[in-house]
Amino acid sequence: MRIGVLTSGGDAPGMNAAIRGIVRVAAGNDIEVFGIERGYKGLLANEMLLLSKRSVSGMIQRGGTMLMTARCPEFEQYEYRRQAAEILTNRRIDGLVVIGGDGSFHGMEALWKEFGVRCVGIPGTIDNDLAYTDFTLGFDTAVNTAVSAINNLRDTMSSHERVVVVQVMGRHCGDIALYAGIAGGAEVILVPEHPIDYDEVSRKLVGNKKAGKQSGIIVLAEGAAPVDEVIREINARTPELTVRSTVLGYIQRGGAPSMSDRLLASKMAYRAVELLKEGKGGRVVGIRDNHIMDEDVTEALARPRRVEENLYKLANLLSI
Ligand code: ADP
Ligand code: F6P
Repeated sequence: MRIGVLTSGGDAPGMNAAIRGIVRVAAGNDIEVFGIERGYKGLLANEMLLLSKRSVSGMIQRGGTMLMTARCPEFEQYEYRRQAAEILTNRRIDGLVVIGGDGSFHGMEALWKEFGVRCVGIPGTIDNDLAYTDFTLGFDTAVNTAVSAINNLRDTMSSHERVVVVQVMGRHCGDIALYAGIAGGAEVILVPEHPIDYDEVSRKLVGNKKAGKQSGIIVLAEGAAPVDEVIREINARTPELTVRSTVLGYIQRGGAPSMSDRLLASKMAYRAVELLKEGKGGRVVGIRDNHIMDEDVTEALARPRRVEENLYKLANLLSI
C-alpha cells in the first residue's frame, strides 16, 4: 500500500510530529508514504518525495511543517481537483492524509466525494475552530506561547501601573484568547462570540485600580475587534488609565510543540493510518472527552461551533 501526506492552510506546531507519526506507523505496516510538498498546490504540481522512517528523525520537536504549506485557491474548482485525483492515481497512491484546518478539509471532502480518493483529515490549526474535536493540533502550543507573553507583559505593566491590550490570533474563534486569558490571569477577555460592552470593560478596569490592582491585561481575540478601537473606546471612557498594546502575531504559530501537541499528533497519526489501512476514506480524526475518535468529514464540518460558556463565566469570576 502507498499513501500520501500533505499539510495545508496555516502551519501549526505539531504538524511535523503528525507527519513523523504517520511515516513511522506506516513503516511498521509496510506502507509507503509520499510527502506532498506545499499542500494542494504541490499536489497539483506533482511535487512529492518518498519519506523513510529516518527522514522524519528529529521532527517531533520542530515547529512549522517540513512539507511546507501553501494556500491554493484553484483547488476550489472541480477541474483542478480532477487533475489532483489523476496525479494520485498515476502515482498509485491509495490514500491521502490531509493535515490542516476546515478549508483543507473541504478540499479533501471534495476529493473523496467526487473521485473516491480515500482521504483522512488530521486537524492542524492553532485556532481550535473545528467543532467536531475538542482540540486541534497547535492550539495548546499557541496558547502556551501567548501565556508566556502575558506573563512578560504583566511584569512591565505592573511596574508602570498600566493597562495592556494583547491581541492574539484565532481568526473567527475566541479559544486562544479565552484559554490564554484564563491561564494568564487576564482581567478582561474579548472574544468574537460575545459582543463587547466597553462601559463594562472600563468600569471593571477602574474598579480594579481602585481596589489596588497595579495592572490590567485585556486579551483580545483578533476576530473580536481591532486593537485601535479597543484602546480608543477605553480612553474615551477612562482617561485616567494608561493603555498600551501588543500584537502577538505569527510568534504564536511557531516554536517547539508542547508535550500535549506532540502526544495528540502521534495518537491522531496512528488513527489516520489505521483508517486508511482498513480501506476507509472521507473521515476526520479528532479528540473528544480525551478519547481519539473519527467522524465522517461532511458531518464533522456541519457541526456548529459551540462556545465554552462555562469557561467564559469562570474567566469573569476569576478576574476580580
Ligand atoms: P485551513 O485549512 O487552515 O482552514 P484555508 O481556509 O486557507 O486554511 O484552506 C486551505 C486550502 O484548502 C485552500 O488554499 C484551498 O486549496 C483548500 N480549500 C479551501 N476551501 C476549499 C473548498 N471549499 N473546496 C476545495 N478546496 C478548498
Ligand atoms: O488559521 C491560522 C491563522 O494563524 C489565524 O489565526 C490567522 O488569522 C491566519 O492564520 C493568518 O493567516 P496568514 O498566514 O495568511 O497571514
